[in-house]
Amino acid sequence: MATVDIDAKIPNNVDLAGDRRLQRALEAWQPKFIRWWEDLGPSAFKRNPVFLRTAVDVGRDGWANFDHVEMPDYRWGVFLADQEPDRKIAFGDYKGEDVWQEVPGEYRSDLRRLIVVQGDTEPASVEQQRHLSLTAPSLYDMRNLFQVNVEEGRHLWAMVYLLHRYFGRDGRDEADEMLERHSGDPDNPRILGAFNEPTPDWLSFFMFTYFTDRDGKYQLASLRESAFDPLSRTCDFMLKEEAYHMFVGATGVGRVVQRTIDLMHEHDTDDVHPHGGINLNLLQKYVNFHYSVSLDLFGAETSTNAANYFAAGIKGRFQEERRDDDHVLKSVGRNVPEIVDGVISSREVTQLSALNETLRDDYIDDCQKGLDRWNRALAEAGIGTTIRLPHAGFNRDVGVYRDHHVSPNGELLTDERWAASSAQWLPTDEERTYVKSLMVGVTEPGKMAGWVAPPTQGIHQKPVDFDYVRL
Ligand SMILES: [Fe+2]
Ligand SMILES: [Fe+2]
Repeated sequence: MATVDIDAKIPNNVDLAGDRRLQRALEAWQPKFIRWWEDLGPSAFKRNPVFLRTAVDVGRDGWANFDHVEMPDYRWGVFLADQEPDRKIAFGDYKGEDVWQEVPGEYRSDLRRLIVVQGDTEPASVEQQRHLSLTAPSLYDMRNLFQVNVEEGRHLWAMVYLLHRYFGRDGRDEADEMLERHSGDPDNPRILGAFNEPTPDWLSFFMFTYFTDRDGKYQLASLRESAFDPLSRTCDFMLKEEAYHMFVGATGVGRVVQRTIDLMHEHDTDDVHPHGGINLNLLQKYVNFHYSVSLDLFGAETSTNAANYFAAGIKGRFQEERRDDDHVLKSVGRNVPEIVDGVISSREVTQLSALNETLRDDYIDDCQKGLDRWNRALAEAGIGTTIRLPHAGFNRDVGVYRDHHVSPNGELLTDERWAASSAQWLPTDEERTYVKSLMVGVTEPGKMAGWVAPPTQGIHQKPVDFDYVRL
């Protein structure tokens, strides 16, 4: 088991002290990271002590420490999950061979690209969320925002470590560029579209952590299968932290649903906007938007890149080893959607060519689970409305649906019908302005803004009215 050097300038379990060149290079990157954090990280409460979880180990028990820290003093570290002895490649053309501890020359640029694309999303989301603390609905929520932010920062460290350690000069350049691209920057934007959209309000933040962080989970889970063992171990540990980000989203949206239910009952009405709540149909529109934007992140239904990554063993499927097939996928088929003569139908292709679609399917099933929980709360409250995932073709910019308009029910629409009806399905400017108007910061411990119910419990056995952020 790797030993943890927790007191080092960069806490780590990768024996940085044993590689002076690498250590010096990362220590030279560290002040650039801190400068980026100060400039583009959280814009307020920068020096307030926040009750944060810090990774200090990777073991089964006690991998994290909880305490109040000022964010710039957060101990961002490099942690890889423990190495699995005799691990073998689980899929693709090299199935059954030993995993790689170094990068094979022929896959160097593919691996670097995958790491850069993943790494770029981490600081991007911090930038997108940088003003949200000003309107946090409670100190509990503000703390959760900051928790997500510092851990996305650590995920950037995780990817930068791989770039520095395994990709030489190119890797160091890529690491610097991670701090030079910025979310929404017209001249030098983040790599993926969804990470250049602002996160303007807390309902969007909860939707983002529910839907978009969950895309991250699926990307990391398929990279965890990688034959490149250091990448696999890095992603394995990142997934531990990532789970909490999705918890923030799932419980956040759930608390909005609960508050809406309470207001509907209290005032005996479906329209809770006069009472400072968020109507169910507006919640549905936010779901429609964030879900469809997140589906795009999986890429086109069929993809030669994804097939090549799989054949090479560098990116697998979600839970690759639990699947009961040949793990080569050249002779097994599956259906992917296609649009012919104005009708949505499907065609059969090899599984190997449809890996993006397979990962998207797994993601969709996972998304549905949260909706089932929210819908259970609605049903138990005697409310007949349900929140639904729209059809996979709704509001898409990538893949076969890209040049078509599809209703949430899966009906193909003409441009005219789309233009006439899209406002029923996606938040209008007016509605976004309404949601924004609800966003007022609440900083008294235990108090909540009026549009969201309190959580059922606090963090790490602390009460809900704990001083999660000290003002
Ligand atoms: Fe992350
Ligand atoms: Fe995340």
